[in-house]
Amino acid sequence: MTEKFELIIFGGDGDLSYRKIYPALYYRLKEGQISDDVRILAVSRKSYDLAKFREKLRSEILFYEKGADLEIVEKLIGMITSSQIDADNQVECDATSTWFTNSTEKVRVFYLATPAAVFGSISKYLHSKNYINENSRVVLEKPLGKDLKSSEQINDEVATYFKEEQIYRIDHYLGKETVQNLMVLRFANNIFESSWNAKDIDNVQITVAESIGVGTRGAFYDQYGALLDMVQNHLLQLLCLIAMEPPVNLEADEVRDEKLKVLKALRFYTPETIEANSIRGQYTRGGTDKDPLPSYLEDIEKFSSKTETFVALKANIDNWRWGGVPFYLRTGKRMPHRYSEIIINFKKVPHNIFMDKKNVESNRLTVRLQPDEKIELLQMVKIPGPGGYRYKPYALELDYADHFEHRFPDAYERLLMDVVRGNQTLFMRRDEVKASWKWVESITKNWEVKNTSNVLYEADSWGPGKHVLEEGHDWAKSHHVKRLEEKEQGE
Ligand code: BG6
Repeated sequence: MTEKFELIIFGGDGDLSYRKIYPALYYRLKEGQISDDVRILAVSRKSYDLAKFREKLRSEILFYEKGADLEIVEKLIGMITSSQIDADNQVECDATSTWFTNSTEKVRVFYLATPAAVFGSISKYLHSKNYINENSRVVLEKPLGKDLKSSEQINDEVATYFKEEQIYRIDHYLGKETVQNLMVLRFANNIFESSWNAKDIDNVQITVAESIGVGTRGAFYDQYGALLDMVQNHLLQLLCLIAMEPPVNLEADEVRDEKLKVLKALRFYTPETIEANSIRGQYTRGGTDKDPLPSYLEDIEKFSSKTETFVALKANIDNWRWGGVPFYLRTGKRMPHRYSEIIINFKKVPHNIFMDKKNVESNRLTVRLQPDEKIELLQMVKIPGPGGYRYKPYALELDYADHFEHRFPDAYERLLMDVVRGNQTLFMRRDEVKASWKWVESITKNWEVKNTSNVLYEADSWGPGKHVLEEGHDWAKSHHVKRLEEKEQGE
């Protein structure tokens, strides 16, 4: 059981809260990690009738968690009160002021599930009302700004009222079960570490493919695009975990120091290198006659937009360990399947001793993050039988669902509890965010310099077709996709 806490959710009537935060609380309560005396305040800008709010909350939780235990749902709902704070206009309802006490006994978590533009004004407001105490923490949802300048400004504003040790910048990818497992895979197994470098690894590929389009988030998404929405945070954090040096231990700053070094070693793009090392795309209409899919422009209800819904990058980490090893990052919306995976492609053996000189495939380590968590190591094996050496690649597979019966907790469950425990290891420190923005700006600025446009791709396809980043690397379709297609053909 965690310590006693109070949770104040700004944006408590918003999509993220219903989709992620309340279900995460439900599971933590169900599994006995949250005590009955936890108090939760769902804040929204408008005043909200408590009975109506609770009714909506009930139906939303049951929508996202079908088959939820009704008794636990009711218990959770009983712990949540709705209230109003409009920080910009300095308005709050009576229920808010009476809810806050002067006690500092419980950890007080302010969860800002709102646009980052209001993080500063909310923090200022909380300070003015004396709601922040030494036992308070604040959780900031991404995206933190649109560029380095706006991100720094938001961080400055929040830092006026909260110390860095009180600030939890969330990147939910860091809370995913298999992402956590990357740490165990790397640092609890000796066999990988000795070959985890430029001498033995040819390239690394990180793919986060989504089948959904922008849906109802069009107005928000159109201001960001795939680079800022996914690469600046999620994909870069994955890259850091793969590329960082072993930290001394799992203390927050030990891990974050190592991640920061990776971010600082990322090679900046220039007007000369940007075109050969990046590609951006936008989805057009696609699907089938029976099941047509709208274009991005139709989704956002605009005639034109330069926002990318797909991005692929060839990145380089200029340090001793990774010199010369390309890291391919790719993410897109409206792909045929949802999957995220990391592939480590090892180098070929230096010399083929076998008589027939048939291709000896190089080893490949695949870490599938979602939807079906899996680790796979491709190796060459001899095909049994007399005569000469015949060999083929064969995969050693660890399928999580087959080996572990545990429910895989959602990232938000772990991250929320980490905030209560005061563990910042899985949260981004300010200097990390700054370093990632600097690198991302070398892309956005050079796209502008070169007036780079989006390559159009059909919804329900794998993104822009053959392009410069694919040369020499078989990543147009990942291993996962090929397997799926083979399976479909076999059926
Ligand atoms: C969010 C992005 O951070 O991550 C969304 O804003 C994206 O656009 C989502 O769909 C993907 O998360 P997951 O956990 O479904 O891979």
